[in-house]
Amino acid sequence: ARANPHAEQEAWEAEQLKKTHVTRVGAQDGGAAAPQYDFVFEDTMDFVKADMLAGNIEDLFETPEERKKKEAEARAIAAKSERERIQEGRRQLPVHPYRDALLEAVEAHQILIIVAETGAGKTTQVPQYLHEAGYSAAGKIGCTQPRRVAAMSVAARVAHEMGVKLGNEVGYSIRFEDCTSDKTILKYMTDGMLLREFLSEPDLASYSVMMIDEAHERTLHTDVLFGLVKDIARFRPDLKLLISSATLDAEKFSEYFDYAPIFKVPGRRYPVDIYFTKAPEADYIDASVQAVMRIHVLEPEGDVLVFLTGQEEIEAVEELLRQRMRGKGTQLAEMIICPIYANLPSELQAKIFEPTPPGARKVVLATNIAETSLTIDGIKYVVDPGFAKQNSYNPRTGMESLVVTPVSKASANQRAGRAGRTSAGKCFRLYTAHSFENEMEDNTVPEIQRTNLGNVVLMLKSLGIHDLMNFDFMDPPPAETLLRALEQLYALGALNDKGELTKLGRRMAEFPLDPMLAKTLIASETYKVSEQIATVCAMVSVGSSIFYRPKDKAVFADNAHKNFSRGGVGDHIALMSVYDGWAESNFSTQWCFENYVQVRSMKRARDIRDQLVGLMERVEIEMVGDSSEHDSIRKAIASGFFYHTARLQKDGSYRTIKNPQSVHLHPSSSLLQLLPRWVVYHELVLTSKEFMRTVSEIKPEWLVEIAPHYYNKKDIMEDAKKMPKGNKGRAALDAAGVE
Ligand code: CDP
Ligand code: MG
Repeated sequence: ARANPHAEQEAWEAEQLKKTHVTRVGAQDGGAAAPQYDFVFEDTMDFVKADMLAGNIEDLFETPEERKKKEAEARAIAAKSERERIQEGRRQLPVHPYRDALLEAVEAHQILIIVAETGAGKTTQVPQYLHEAGYSAAGKIGCTQPRRVAAMSVAARVAHEMGVKLGNEVGYSIRFEDCTSDKTILKYMTDGMLLREFLSEPDLASYSVMMIDEAHERTLHTDVLFGLVKDIARFRPDLKLLISSATLDAEKFSEYFDYAPIFKVPGRRYPVDIYFTKAPEADYIDASVQAVMRIHVLEPEGDVLVFLTGQEEIEAVEELLRQRMRGKGTQLAEMIICPIYANLPSELQAKIFEPTPPGARKVVLATNIAETSLTIDGIKYVVDPGFAKQNSYNPRTGMESLVVTPVSKASANQRAGRAGRTSAGKCFRLYTAHSFENEMEDNTVPEIQRTNLGNVVLMLKSLGIHDLMNFDFMDPPPAETLLRALEQLYALGALNDKGELTKLGRRMAEFPLDPMLAKTLIASETYKVSEQIATVCAMVSVGSSIFYRPKDKAVFADNAHKNFSRGGVGDHIALMSVYDGWAESNFSTQWCFENYVQVRSMKRARDIRDQLVGLMERVEIEMVGDSSEHDSIRKAIASGFFYHTARLQKDGSYRTIKNPQSVHLHPSSSLLQLLPRWVVYHELVLTSKEFMRTVSEIKPEWLVEIAPHYYNKKDIMEDAKKMPKGNKGRAALDAAGVE
């Protein structure tokens, strides 16, 4: 047979095709920009040269003016049809037929409860209707969201629908990121940010309308907002208040808001077939992967939504699905995997809303965020393992952790509903019908009843609300939890013995941080390490992991990471060294690659740090420090975190000092081999056991120095005598005189 003369080019094209495919998939891999190719076709150049010589150049090229004119025309046409398309889309939404009735109801009542199914258009449309009806002339229209990703994403959507640049007329505000300007009239924000706004504007004077959205989620901040907005509505009769919810049990909201009227938008829902497993699933990660593959192979077109509990699970499932799809290019339709979770970089969030190309199937791997806050069109199949991450708090021991918990029936039903928005769908539950009926709670317990209230109590106290026991909570928190929070704030020095805010407490409230971190920042002044503590606090507030540890390069990554924890003083200082190393490299991306550090997390740390430094300057903390002052840095940390201290046990586990509980070093800790005798930890995470994450060694006598009202010398010293000697690694370090 004759050799195919085009073989080489075909191979090249196939390669390019693969590359485009990879970028599509790869956009989630790390957001690598599409590769750029430079083509120089020599024969074209010859052609141009010949023309130039022949004097034909004018004919060959359009003038820049001509080109600009043509482009502007094309843009105008595209924009017009795009605008029409958008307006058409808005008219299709279930709330649209109720637009005028809704506006009348808002006009007639100060407080209105709005109930409409997820995806009906509450979040994106109602604020626009109010703006179109002129409410924005009297002040901003605010809309709260329990989740930061939702706030960013709906704001982007609404800006797009209104044809404005995000951050101008339409903006959003989330912790450590304010994307608004003087022009902003529609402001989406997390519920936590609105709570902070009360500190500077207790009557919300700059708003004409406030919409407390996703009220059914009953997050801690939303619940506190209920009490605050209900109160200001009394002396701001011009303020309109909307409470919107995706579930039908709106009577409770109505009752709480003095029997405010309920505006119901009838839902449009297609039937969803629900499948349960025959037997309980031991491993829901594996079962999720199987379920997705089953759908991909057997079911007709339609996108899949899988509910997982967090970034790590999402990444694990993504990896497993990729493995399953590898080499199946010809037998199976293309699978486009789209993760979405709180810390997903915003550039990648938009991806989940891109329409699925014909013949392909989108698989969205999401946390609870996709349950009601975000609507993704085209979902026909839902895979529901039945779990979510929830905070749990034990006021007796003061232990707080994030726990993977079975969801409630109400949640499971919301999840299933996501499959039937635009056509009939299917929901695959990875649990048995029996456990749904008998083991799952009817409703999720409101967060206020299962979380540490330190932060909120500090905020309420700064707002001048003293009598917390009689605050108008929709569902009050357990009295024990409130007392615990007051006691902790007292121990931190934020409250005096009458329960009044101290000067220190007032300064602490300036920071959008947990009181323990706020205290650490302020204590850094005393120990003259404010620069270093600003870095540590920024690094622990990033939320996503700092270190990059791909499985196939784990050994290299671990080696690189070890460099940061030399000296064995702990994870906080290791985090600081990472930041300092990056800063020394002039914030270089290359440096991050070489050191197996995640660039995005570092950039976020830098943003957070800049803001913290701004706030520190506002409360007049002098920025000073010396990175080698490891003791001072750890003392500052212990000043905020003396509640979170533990000591080594004979079996290598740890016990918390007050209210003794068994805890363990997290496998990621740099102290794992060293087992120091006394440690302070940033947080507990409960997986197979209670793990302390981000841990540093401390000296017990520091506790007496730092928190004399909380620890007394006798107790600590007596305990110290009974302590095991630490392990060999520690002893070796001791012998070498290493701190
Ligand atoms: O708040 P609610 O659940 O009632 O609905 P919404 O969030 O206002 O969403 C209305 C529609 O906007 C959805 O059906 C989505 O198709 C679309 N949307 C979108 O395309 N991109 C977003 N970021 C948010 C909404
Ligand atoms: Mg919504």
